[in-house]
Amino acid sequence: MEPNLLVLGGTLEATRLCRALAGAGLRGTVSMAGRVARPADQALPLRIGGFGGAEGLATYLRAQRITHVIDATHPFAAQMSANAVAACRAVDVPLIALTRAPWGETADDHWTRVPGMAGAVAALGGAPRRVMLAVGRMHLPDFAVQPQHFYLLRLVDPPEARLDFPDHHVVVDRGPFGLEGDLALLRDHAIDLVVSKNSGGTGAFAKIAAARELGLPVIMIDRPSIPARHETHEVEEVLRWLDHAGTDLGV
Ligand SMILES: NC(=O)c1ccc[n+]([C@@H]2O[C@H](COP(=O)([O-])OP(=O)(O)OC[C@H]3O[C@@H](n4cnc5c(N)ncnc54)[C@H](OP(=O)(O)O)[C@@H]3O)[C@@H](O)[C@H]2O)c1
Repeated sequence: MEPNLLVLGGTLEATRLCRALAGAGLRGTVSMAGRVARPADQALPLRIGGFGGAEGLATYLRAQRITHVIDATHPFAAQMSANAVAACRAVDVPLIALTRAPWGETADDHWTRVPGMAGAVAALGGAPRRVMLAVGRMHLPDFAVQPQHFYLLRLVDPPEARLDFPDHHVVVDRGPFGLEGDLALLRDHAIDLVVSKNSGGTGAFAKIAAARELGLPVIMIDRPSIPARHETHEVEEVLRWLDHAGTDLGV
């Protein structure tokens, strides 16, 4: 049967993967949640919006005759990833996850690791700081209970509503980001603390490297747990898996 892939996307890695899949002559669709106003161009046809939970995804897989699912979502998109595991199991469609290795702390880093967003909010208790808050737009309201800080926010789209931070600055930009730019950003805003998800990968690492270079502390939010699934960090491994899973790639 000719493969008909579903890529769960919304990341730089998914965009790169779609390019490789299209380059290998494979047919498929990439899916995004619809969180950003202008998604990056994709090499596969794009569908946007939720499926309606694991059940909705299972229905979609059947209706669209999807042969393989590749979960290339962000490591913090735990709900989508759990739904993919459940739906693929329910309708017996093979699943692989293209993930990024988490960032590791080196001797030059000063990290406080916290288990989740609530841990990061709690860790911000105390005297006013100048904080780069890199947690994504959806989680900003959680931090309104710590209004004493200056917050530097970098968002893909300008905020639609007023943000609940008395003292903040928004930079509208999308990755990948570079070390020189992030060093300048942290210096220009006199940042003395960075709060970040442990996203892994290269596109968002510059702020962590910049914090390292400036000797700044980082509150690093550990990844949420996701049910076990076949997982790789390599696009080439996804292509090999597809080959073994019965598609005719010739790789
Ligand atoms: N979380 C982050 O830090 C982060 C950072 C960069 C990019 N992203 C990207 O942004 C998207 C949303 O992330 P999230 O953390 O909000 O996800 P999430 O909490 O795991 O997902 C919540 C719901 O959003 C829908 N959804 C999520 N990803 C989707 C996709 N690729 N295609 C279709 N529907 C999707 C699903 O709705 P239904 O249940 O209705 O199917 C899902 O149950 C993901 O595609 C992710 O790759 C997330």
